[in-house]
Amino acid sequence: MSNDYQFDVLIIGSGAAGLMSAIQLSDNLSIAVIAKDKILEGSSYYAQGGISAVLDPEDNFESHITDTMNTGFHLGNEASIRFMVEKAPQAIIDLEKTGVKFSNTDNKYDLTTEGGHSSNRVAHVADKTGQSIQVNLLAHVQKHNNIKLFEEYVAVDLIVTDKRCHGTYVLDKNSKEILTFSSKKTILATGGASKSYLYTSNPDTSTGDGIAMAYRAGCKIANMEFTQFHPTCLFHPHAKSFLISETLRGEGAKLILPDGQEFMHKYDERLELAPRDIVARAIDNEMKIHGFDCVYLDFSFKDAEWIKSRFPTITQRCKELGIDISKEALPVVPAAHYTCGGVDTNIDAQSNIKNLYAVGEVAHTGVHGANRMASNSLLECIVFAKSCAQHINENILENSSYVIPKWDDSRVAPSKEKVVIAHLWHEIRLIMWNFVGIVRSNNRLKSAYLKIQQINKEVDEYYQVYTVTEDLIELRNLAQTSKIIVESALSRKESRGLHFNQDFPNQLNETENTVLTKA
Ligand code: FAD
Ligand code: SIN
Repeated sequence: MSNDYQFDVLIIGSGAAGLMSAIQLSDNLSIAVIAKDKILEGSSYYAQGGISAVLDPEDNFESHITDTMNTGFHLGNEASIRFMVEKAPQAIIDLEKTGVKFSNTDNKYDLTTEGGHSSNRVAHVADKTGQSIQVNLLAHVQKHNNIKLFEEYVAVDLIVTDKRCHGTYVLDKNSKEILTFSSKKTILATGGASKSYLYTSNPDTSTGDGIAMAYRAGCKIANMEFTQFHPTCLFHPHAKSFLISETLRGEGAKLILPDGQEFMHKYDERLELAPRDIVARAIDNEMKIHGFDCVYLDFSFKDAEWIKSRFPTITQRCKELGIDISKEALPVVPAAHYTCGGVDTNIDAQSNIKNLYAVGEVAHTGVHGANRMASNSLLECIVFAKSCAQHINENILENSSYVIPKWDDSRVAPSKEKVVIAHLWHEIRLIMWNFVGIVRSNNRLKSAYLKIQQINKEVDEYYQVYTVTEDLIELRNLAQTSKIIVESALSRKESRGLHFNQDFPNQLNETENTVLTKA
């Protein structure tokens, strides 16, 4: 027996999905939460816009369900969407219990809107909703003696035999050792894979690790062709990944060309508040037609003091970069933002591997279909973290008799060539951006497939002979996830939502989810 750590439940990832899962698990369970970076680092911390829920008496569940179905081009699973939408008001209460204070006026939520929503139903904490959620969830977790946090521990691979998960091999970044975490239940909460693309709104943690690990372990992976591009990331050489929230458009901001002309009327009658796939394609098209590097988002007609109090984070970051948001339009471009597909799960977050769950952006619960509606992601994290935890609490945790073999590194040696990893990493992200981006074609997808397949081969060979490092783990996962994205895109013979293929421009009447499993 060589288990370095033993827990009832291992949670891989400390974003909103991971931390909320930990909070909702019973106090009599021993729980480990591991994070490959600092505990607060991940997409959740940077969420600006908010979290959607029916909180206005004028709004109703049916409307939230219909908007979500329509935005997802009717590929979403209506039962899962209903489950999430009906639990949304409670999710807001669950967050408030941890200390999150949503922006309000006269004790009424200050609800705003974003693309696809037909009512104001986005609750927010100014423009730092994610930061507030993460700080409060973490403080709450730290009050629990049964939850142990492991910062800078990178999950390498799940330990699965006969379709049953026993735990995970984990790299301790400081000691550089690979440890064994054995667990009766394992929850993947590793976030998305938007770092597969050259330009992204996401932090460095979004390298598709959970999706790739689950794929290698035999999980079903669904709908990975649907990468969401956020229409408005700041276009500035020093503003790596900085998002300009859709809630600016929710509050009236206009998209314009460099000469001040508006253009959204050419694309959709909902103008700036059309769903993201439409707005991102419109911007992409305008940039291509005119040869522009970016378009602009104008909010300068709003009162400067109001902008500062409603959007303090964006105002401050722009100021640091020399842009006064209340006086000038912001240069913006689309960037990869969200992975709609992922590890296929039911409403209890169970995957098809026993004792393995997936929650948050890593999961495919069926709520987003072919395009996620704004602010439904944090909601999905909170709702399904709870149903996952409840399922674990109510199901007796079995002791596994399986003896986990110790990590074998007897046949590998440290690499002296970091350049190989850096080069392949960049190549993948360039291929994905140019060939598997906002507008796709059969030729570009086929070309991307051949190139990504070759890179996977090289990475596999490298992995066989060199000692595992965080960079190598991420490169391997990024390569495998990118391959899954391209394969999924090739297998969809239509254009729907975020997947737009010039060679199949029409939407089919009947369609299914794309599900891939390792052969
Ligand atoms: P994350 O928050 O990304 O956390 C992933 C965790 O997994 C991290 O702790 C990471 O360290 C860990 N991890 C990953 N791989 C490993 C590994 N191999 N080993 C160990 N740990 C690992 N959605 C909304 O609904 N509303 C918004 O307003 C909104 N705004 C957004 C703004 C930005 C800039 C971004 C990037 C996203 C936004 N989204 C928003 C999307 C939403 O924030 C994310 O989908 C959601 O927060 C994902 O949460 P998560 O817990 O699944 O993953
Ligand atoms: C944003 O604030 O524009 C992001 C919202 C989201 O991704 O749901």
